[in-house]
This record gives sequence, C-alpha cells and structure tokens, in this order.
Amino acid sequence: MRNPYYESSLKKRIKADRQNRRKRIEKDMEKYGSEILNSEELKDAFGQTHHLWSTVGEHTLRVAASSIMICYALRKLNIPTNIPAVVVGSLCHDLGILGRDEKYSSKKECSVEHPRDSVDVARHLVPELTDESAEIIERHMWPAGGSKAPNTKEGMIVSIADKYVAVKDLIKGSDLKGTGVRNTAHRQHERVSNQLQEKIEKVRESITDTEEKNNAE
Ligand SMILES: [Fe+2]
Ligand SMILES: [Fe+2]
Repeated sequence: MRNPYYESSLKKRIKADRQNRRKRIEKDMEKYGSEILNSEELKDAFGQTHHLWSTVGEHTLRVAASSIMICYALRKLNIPTNIPAVVVGSLCHDLGILGRDEKYSSKKECSVEHPRDSVDVARHLVPELTDESAEIIERHMWPAGGSKAPNTKEGMIVSIADKYVAVKDLIKGSDLKGTGVRNTAHRQHERVSNQLQEKIEKVRESITDTEEKNNAE
C-alpha cells in the first residue's frame, strides 16, 4: 500500500544525498584539478562548440563529474579507484581539441590526434602529470579514433563517461545560457526553422488564395 509519509521522506533523503554528492564532487574536482579549473585553456574551452549542442568546457566538466560519480559508486562495491588521476585525466581529456579547425585538416585527423595533443596540454598545466593520468587522456577515445583500449580501471571509467556524456550532448542538447556561446548548431537550427516557417506561410497564402477564388466563383 502507498505510504505518503514514507514516500516524501524517501524523496527528501534522495534529494539530500544528491546535494551531498554534488558537493563532494566539486570538492574533489577543486582538490585535485585546481590548476586545470583555473586555466586559460579551460576558459577558452567554453567558447568552442563540441558534440553539436555543447561546448568543450561544458562537456569537460560533465565528463569529470560523471567519472567521479562512477568512482564513488565503485567504492560502495569495494572497488577502489585513483580519484586524483581520474580528475586530472577527465578535466584534460579534450583540451587538445581547442583550435580544432586550424589544427586538423579532417574530422578523422582530429579524432586520432587530439588525445595526444590533450596530453601535451595536460603536461603544460600539471607539471607533475602522472603516467596514469597521461594514459587516461591518450586512450579516452576508445573504441573510436583507432585508440588503444584503456589499460586501467580509471581509463575505462573516463572513456565510458566520455561516451555517455557525448551521447547525451548530441541527443538532448545543453543549456548554453550564461556561457556566451551562440554556436553554429543553434544558428543552423534557427535557419532550418525559418525556412520551415517560410514554407508554412506560402502554404497558408495558397490556401487563402484558393478560398478567395472559390468564393468569387
Ligand atoms: Fe575526445
Ligand atoms: Fe570528450
């Protein structure tokens, strides 16, 4: 039988858990990734479109948050993970893609080359970059881009979180309010809906014309 009191207290608990988790994620991100979070590179990343509806910056933060969340869940299953390596790896995984149009001559080249370029950016931002973080970044594109499969749990976590977030970006689109980004995808969307509106207007006009002619006859 439905128990409204139980249901509302359960909802409250879920909400509180979610808020606590969000705070812990932010804390871990700042603790292990402050050099990256405060970098000009990440700032620039909010100005470059990614996965049609998103920006490299938004995508990066979502991949990092999702990866950390997976680590928390695995910890509950007694599977320990290297959270500092996951934070650094996920926050840097796509930073090498900045300036994509000038750097790469094709989508394929971009997909193959950007992980290595991201490792270079990571080395610049985090001078003591660990091999584990570098491997996470270098293999994150797996199974795309001809990438080698991740060789650690942490690499697998970031690679899966990257696909999950990319699919969500592509399907749902993201909230670009406040980012100052009016990306090409949005302009494309506007153009298509304007064309559609013009067609609708033409159909309406022709219907009105036909009606007027019929009335006159
Ligand atoms: Fe990538
Ligand atoms: Fe990515």
